[in-house]
Amino acid sequence: MKIGNVKINGHLFLAPMADVTNPAFRMLCKKHGAALTYSEMISADAVLHGNIRTANRGLSSEEEKPFAIQLFGNSAATIVNASSIIEERFCPDIIDLNFGCPAKVLVKDGSGSALLDFPEKIREIVSAVSGKVDAPVTAKIRVLHDMEKTLDIARVIEEAGAGAITVHGRTQAQQYAGKAEHEYARKIKNELSIPVIANGDISNGHSAKHVLEYTGCDALMVGRASMGNPHIFTEISHFLRTGEQLPTDECTQRLADFKEYVRLLELYGLEEYVDIRMHARWFTRGIKGGRHVRQGISGTREKKSIIRLMESLCAQLPSKATNNDFHGK
Ligand SMILES: Cc1cc2nc3c(=O)[nH]c(=O)nc-3n(C[C@H](O)[C@H](O)[C@H](O)COP(=O)(O)O)c2cc1C
Repeated sequence: MKIGNVKINGHLFLAPMADVTNPAFRMLCKKHGAALTYSEMISADAVLHGNIRTANRGLSSEEEKPFAIQLFGNSAATIVNASSIIEERFCPDIIDLNFGCPAKVLVKDGSGSALLDFPEKIREIVSAVSGKVDAPVTAKIRVLHDMEKTLDIARVIEEAGAGAITVHGRTQAQQYAGKAEHEYARKIKNELSIPVIANGDISNGHSAKHVLEYTGCDALMVGRASMGNPHIFTEISHFLRTGEQLPTDECTQRLADFKEYVRLLELYGLEEYVDIRMHARWFTRGIKGGRHVRQGISGTREKKSIIRLMESLCAQLPSKATNNDFHGK
């Protein structure tokens, strides 16, 4: 598929996630087949103020291409200026605009999902950024209770020059509760000519297949299911190709991915910016006996100790334990 002039080989995308999709994690997901990766959301204001932590969020590498940088803000002027700086400094293939974040701090500031109440402001922002940068501009939205109003916003985004739209099928008020409603993405796909990306609750091959077929969307975006489990992209791709679940020794796979993650964090010089214990805990989620290991992880900051704890977890599981042997806790 193509977004603007950017060719994307595949239709499984890694969602933008604050404190998760740092450059090292994105690279790991890329290695597992994520066709397009998104940075954590970056504050347009912070870009203009040269915030160092923010700058790290935009880092990338040739191998990660194509990748998108996501920006949020509450004024067209700020976002346009930040987009120019971001484009010049980090050369993202795509600039994505956040019209979906429900976090109070953003909403109070008139950013993220607060903008869904002001379609004309969305038009102004998308149009101004599209007119300024060379990269295609895309938008990520949440939905409104009212289907027609949601469709209006999608139309505005297309008319204003966006190259694609991502639809997370939850409202701002829902935060992450309830189920994502993919009827919105289906209707938006029916109406628009730009690529539409469906997002929300895609956690395995079955849900991916269902959402692709139901919505007819051009691509799927995976968020929480990838946290601590970048291999999910390989698993979903395999299922979509073959209709069968890929047999995986989950613990060994997670351990190998965690080791590679640590290597990439070192390579990119990101260790001090990432809460390694929090990320390590995600890598043990869903694995039998993982709770005990997570308690151990809480007591150390040493990467080597964390890896030893994870190795001991894998060693005590029957060899070649597959996804089916894993439990909810
Ligand atoms: C920890 C976390 C951080 C997130 N940060 C962002 C963000 O920076 N920008 C954004 O557009 N959405 C963000 N989201 C929302 C996700 O991109 C995605 O829309 C949402 O999690 C639904 O997809 P899922 O059900 O596959 O997780 C975040 C979600 C989580 C769980």
